[in-house]
Amino acid sequence: MPKETFYITTPIYYPSGNPHIGHCYTTVACDSIARYKRMQGYDVMFLTGTDEHGQKIEQKAAEKGITPKQYVDEIVEVFKKLWSYMNISYDRYIRTTDDYHVEAVQKIFKELYDKGYIYKGEYKGKYCTPCESFWTESQLDADGKCPECHRDVTEAREEAYFFKMSPFAERIEKLLTETDYLRPKSRATELVNNFIKPGLEDLCVSRTSFKWGIPVSFDEKHVVYVWIDALSNYITALGYENGHYNDYQKYWPADVHMVAKDIMRFHAIIWPAMLMALELPLPKHLAVHGWITFNGQKMSKSLGNVVDPFVLGERYGADSIRYHILREMALGADSSFSNEIMINRINSDLANGLGNLISRTVAMVLKYFDGTLPENKQSGEHDAELIAEMTSLRAKVDEAIEETKLNVALAEIFKVVSAANKYIDETSPWILAKNEADKPRLAAVLYNLLEAIRITTTLLSPFMPTTMPKAWEQIGAAAGDVTYENAEKYGVLPSNVTVKKGDVLFPRIDVEKEIDELNALISANAPKKEDDEDGANLVPISETISIDDFGKIDLRIAEVKECEKVPKAKKLLRLQLDDGFGGRQVVSGIAKWYSPEDLIGKKIIVVANLAPAKLCGVESQGMIVAADVGEDARVIFVDKDIPNGSKLR
Ligand code: ME8
Repeated sequence: MPKETFYITTPIYYPSGNPHIGHCYTTVACDSIARYKRMQGYDVMFLTGTDEHGQKIEQKAAEKGITPKQYVDEIVEVFKKLWSYMNISYDRYIRTTDDYHVEAVQKIFKELYDKGYIYKGEYKGKYCTPCESFWTESQLDADGKCPECHRDVTEAREEAYFFKMSPFAERIEKLLTETDYLRPKSRATELVNNFIKPGLEDLCVSRTSFKWGIPVSFDEKHVVYVWIDALSNYITALGYENGHYNDYQKYWPADVHMVAKDIMRFHAIIWPAMLMALELPLPKHLAVHGWITFNGQKMSKSLGNVVDPFVLGERYGADSIRYHILREMALGADSSFSNEIMINRINSDLANGLGNLISRTVAMVLKYFDGTLPENKQSGEHDAELIAEMTSLRAKVDEAIEETKLNVALAEIFKVVSAANKYIDETSPWILAKNEADKPRLAAVLYNLLEAIRITTTLLSPFMPTTMPKAWEQIGAAAGDVTYENAEKYGVLPSNVTVKKGDVLFPRIDVEKEIDELNALISANAPKKEDDEDGANLVPISETISIDDFGKIDLRIAEVKECEKVPKAKKLLRLQLDDGFGGRQVVSGIAKWYSPEDLIGKKIIVVANLAPAKLCGVESQGMIVAADVGEDARVIFVDKDIPNGSKLR
């Protein structure tokens, strides 16, 4: 009988910079699931790859003076090197620049056009002639000019193709709210309220403003919008609309697409809409995880080398890094990464917990029985409890894997590791060893411990594929002993098993010394501010507030009538505002960035019901709204035609 199939995918990553621990999370999680499923006997297809088109890549390559393909080729090599370093067992790697994918995306686009779901329309915007660039209203600078050269822009219309998504709104809402597609399902509400309830807007799916993309086959001055190109990878990689592979029938629909929350909308709404329009089956699950954050911010490559997975792997081993990131992240929530938490976890769970259990057990078999257990054994107190824990473990791990809750799977396994360590304390083998008559009992205790190690390490092997085989060598387990089938059975190791001394699997890390060294590395490798394109310096979003809380803040439009520096206060400007209610005076700490002439005549936003305060002896009746941009403050200017005193909502 053919094996049941299991198809799992990571997002295809942008090769716009080197990969970091954040990228590792999804890939390691999918790899662990793929390995677990293979161990269960499934015919697995595990897909990853790179999403190589788009304006950003085109610009970066131009800055370096190379072609976009040369640019992505270099970074793709780093991704592949990292995946090999992290022992990622992908079955297929797709690059969206691969010919077969390009051909298939062109066919998909044409098919959607022929079915009437894609139509030609007009994209309204602003055009800067000297820069030959299209901008949307919101991209313009504060004066409504070109954000690049700050010259005047003109009204413009660009021809573009649009994807009609509204016909699928009802089905998508049902998919999100009534099926098990979205995990965690709690995220469905925000998707439905933000995108479906207000009416699914048609999506602009072609661009003419840059070239680095897949040309629309029947209108070559357009390139296909990068998300239509990227999402299609999940089927083109199986051979959909191309002759390169022939696995579509076998593996589609996917069992699991795993992504982080930033790209949930594309996978929860646009991707199902595309598949519905193509009349293809929908994937079974979309597992959405949170971000790995660093100092409270979404981790990005610009944070420096210490979170570089190569550096961490070199110091602590790829398996320890895999374990740590999987154990820390609960599905759906963010997980904060810190070197200290990582080192402490490696020490407590791996060095003290599992590592110690293995080394103590093997050492005792060597010391008390010269490495080979005798046949004669005597069961006793505490055995039944430990055996019950180990034989019921597999079902718990299965369930957690089924629900893509990898941290839960690991927590369950480590409960049994702790139970085994506790069993050592309860049975005190070193006391049994003092008395020859207790040797049969001692042999049984050590056998039970070896069995607990066999079962836990078998179930851990998809998560830590390099170290677990080393553990099996030490406990004398043969390949046939450490199978999925045997992971729920007691009594699999031969009664007269022979152990073997081996290296310490997880050496204890000196926390203080390591933290000092890692901090030194952070300072040495800290990137310059201007390298930070991923918004790593953004302040995290504050805690949620209710609409009533927001209603307490009275924001109004006001015009700056007069403005002057506050004498003896270098940072402060005093502004006289027309707030539509007879005027008010506000003092603002923005003198470093604005001179009075920059502000007079402009319309701004003021927090109008803030309690008055005195700044350097000058009364301020409210506060001006500005954005923090790195070290700078930028005042938010608004359209001149909004009347003074208008309330913001
Ligand atoms: O969005 N924490 O690519 P991308 C956790 N090309 N996961 C993180 C992370 C972090 N700090 N940073 C990145 C794209 N990820 C598109 C995808 S799919 C058809 C196209 C992971 O390189 C996470 O899985 O920006 C996230 O969804 C993915 O990287 C986005 O990677």
